Amino acid sequence: MTATTHSTDHGLSKFHRLLLDQVRHEFTASQQYIALAVWFDDHDLPQLARVFYRQSLEERDHAMMIVRFLIDNDVPTTIPGIDEIRNEFDTARDLVALALRQEREVTDQFNLLAKVARDEGDHIGEQFLQWFLKEQVEEVAKMSTLLAVIDRANGNLFDVEGFVARDMPDETGDATAPETAGPSLS
Ligand SMILES: [Fe+2]
Ligand SMILES: [Fe+2]
Repeated sequence: MTATTHSTDHGLSKFHRLLLDQVRHEFTASQQYIALAVWFDDHDLPQLARVFYRQSLEERDHAMMIVRFLIDNDVPTTIPGIDEIRNEFDTARDLVALALRQEREVTDQFNLLAKVARDEGDHIGEQFLQWFLKEQVEEVAKMSTLLAVIDRANGNLFDVEGFVARDMPDETGDATAPETAGPSLS
């Protein structure tokens, strides 16, 4: 820890406490995406289901990247439970709108993390966040595109499935991604 890092009741910097919270947020996102995938699967929308099953695994990886970072930086690491998961939806649009909202919230969380790392003079932490900030730009863009496609399809979910099949393939490994604790998608 640097001399400018502020101690707290648990002896952790504010940055490290927020990172521990972020593990919970990423696991919550992962579980929420399973709920979305299952809804799509149950409604015979296999392409949308595929995207969200896959997205769930990516969120799990994000959590495990943070866990790896915490372990490597000698931060006492505990694995949290998750927040409430929503399973009741009326339309496909509701699910994607929820996903977009969730991604925007996560972006806000990483922006706060970056601010706190900077304020605390935690350069290692600040550098670690760069990949996540870039990833959030992509994920927000992806969900906002999907929402626009759903709105344009005007209730025709076969059109949406066609778009997803063509234009939303599973992404292959990202060599610049931080390492996870244990195995990962990439
Ligand atoms: Fe994430
Ligand atoms: Fe995400």
